[in-house]
Amino acid sequence: CGIVGYIGNKDAFPILIKGLRRLEYRGYDSAGVALVNSDTALNVYKSKGKVDNLVEYCSDKNVSGTVGIAHTRWATHGEPSALNAHPHYSESGNLAIIHNGIIENYSDIKKKLMANGVKFRSETDTEVLVQLIEYIKEHKNLDLLTAVQVALHEVIGAYAIALLDKRTPHQIIVARNQSPLVVGIGDDEFFIGSDASPIVEYTDKVVYLEDGNIAVLHKGEELKVVNILNRRLNPEIQTVDINLGQLDKGGYPHFMLKEIFEQPDCLTNCMRGRVNVDTDNVVLSAIIDYKKQLINAKRFIIVACGTSWHAGQIGKQMIENFCRIPVEVEYASEFRYRNPVITSDDVVIAISQSGETADTLAAVKLAKDNGAFIYGICNAIGSSIPRATNTGSYIHVGPEIGVASTKAFTGQVTVLTMLALALAKEKGTISSSDYLEIVKELHEIPEKMKKVLELNDRISELSRIFTYAHNFLYLGRGYSYPVALEGALKLKEISYIHAEGYPAAEMKHGPIALIDSDMPVVVIATHNAMYEKVLSNIQEVKARKGKVIAIVTEGDDNISRIADEVIELPTTIECLEPLLATIPLQLLAYHIAVCKGKNVDQPRNLAKSVTVE
Ligand code: G6P
Repeated sequence: CGIVGYIGNKDAFPILIKGLRRLEYRGYDSAGVALVNSDTALNVYKSKGKVDNLVEYCSDKNVSGTVGIAHTRWATHGEPSALNAHPHYSESGNLAIIHNGIIENYSDIKKKLMANGVKFRSETDTEVLVQLIEYIKEHKNLDLLTAVQVALHEVIGAYAIALLDKRTPHQIIVARNQSPLVVGIGDDEFFIGSDASPIVEYTDKVVYLEDGNIAVLHKGEELKVVNILNRRLNPEIQTVDINLGQLDKGGYPHFMLKEIFEQPDCLTNCMRGRVNVDTDNVVLSAIIDYKKQLINAKRFIIVACGTSWHAGQIGKQMIENFCRIPVEVEYASEFRYRNPVITSDDVVIAISQSGETADTLAAVKLAKDNGAFIYGICNAIGSSIPRATNTGSYIHVGPEIGVASTKAFTGQVTVLTMLALALAKEKGTISSSDYLEIVKELHEIPEKMKKVLELNDRISELSRIFTYAHNFLYLGRGYSYPVALEGALKLKEISYIHAEGYPAAEMKHGPIALIDSDMPVVVIATHNAMYEKVLSNIQEVKARKGKVIAIVTEGDDNISRIADEVIELPTTIECLEPLLATIPLQLLAYHIAVCKGKNVDQPRNLAKSVTVE
């Protein structure tokens, strides 16, 4: 899941380990490193579990060398174990590889190699790749680059790879197809990362490789990028502006809490230059540049996964409400395999924090091939999805490290709000008084979020009461329904308590059967058009002795009389309530997980950036 590499004049091991730690946030279950030292010996060390285990394991080993590659693995083929961890090496022990992605035809290739006498140690598709490269190199007597090009011709699948050969220790070869890979360029040295975070403390000059790129990182030479047919390409060297402070916890015990607390600033950044208070106007450059395509859309299709899909559900309600354009929200993984109806009258909005989620990227490609116009809403600058779209708007909330997404969600909802407003104005489907009222209120949201964050201590207290629960139900209606889904997902992800989000009125068609005095039910019951209806739903829960935690608008006396616990939010406009109501649910999940002693930033089995389908 995480790739790091170094070639230069410094000791590689500390740089690689630090890089792996920077990538820990992506989620993984084993780690490993390969180094070539001055005796041109290839040393490969791997261990199950955390990077700390790997460091411990290496404490009495030879970790010298100025060339190395390292990896954190999230199991796809084969269980998490030291054996299945990367780097994998060829039978001869000459070549070592690290790999993100999946080689789909690995079992056919493996059979052929085995028939030719190649022996395998692990169950992984990655070992098949390194053995294939070595086999081709030896049997056809080729140099490493050519052997890689020939091997990649045979491979079907997604990959980002880095390859070391102890016989040519002055170079590392890397290649990318549908899985991200970044090369950092320093003084007489190169860095490799699956994203820029392990690189930024050494250099701000990076090259984001494109699909089909193969790069040769040769000590003392310029970066050479070619394609599979050996045509020389001109890499675009970019400057990254991530500062190190953004990658640290900044005094908070966990990244997740830091990121929850950053949200007011994040939204200010997200709206900077876009929501103008003086003119009360919302300006998105994408809408100026592609006005025709966007206002003439017959339909919007939002494709996303996980938390981003929940943001899409809120976006749907706003776009339909204000722009009067029908919107469908699709799980990218379903959409891409369903033979969906897509036409050139459709605008597909791809929402992704990482910009790398494999299913979302594939959905974008499918929609593009069918003539749709593609709009991306992403966070990671320069990532694959923004590069594959026609236009888009970054959410500008800074790197999100906690696996459970928080600030990216509110950033996505904010961009969707701005998009709906700006488009509605262009189309003339919103009254100027409604438009003005929402724009003014949008500007107030960061301050109101700060008020909500003051509830942190109270929610921390509250969470202790509920750590016993095995199940939670989250209910909401209208704009609050996706908030309920997101609250339930947060709890599931980091505390491992089963939780379900439901439209409040649907509860009586099933989940009500689960309610008893052991069942906490979180209800978003803010003062809006749905208020009376949600109040009746709370009564239905109470009649079955469920424990109600209600999220209400400040000053609400009705609900405080019947609910077990009440959390008060500042008043806002209904469509902006998700931006406030989500925060107590993030905090509730966080504190419950902390009380239960769980690894909040790296929950088991989850990955931050899911680059496999
Ligand atoms: C993973 C993450 C989630 C995220 C989802 C979509 O499952 O753990 O937090 O919501 O992927 O990721 P994306 O980067 O496309 O928003």
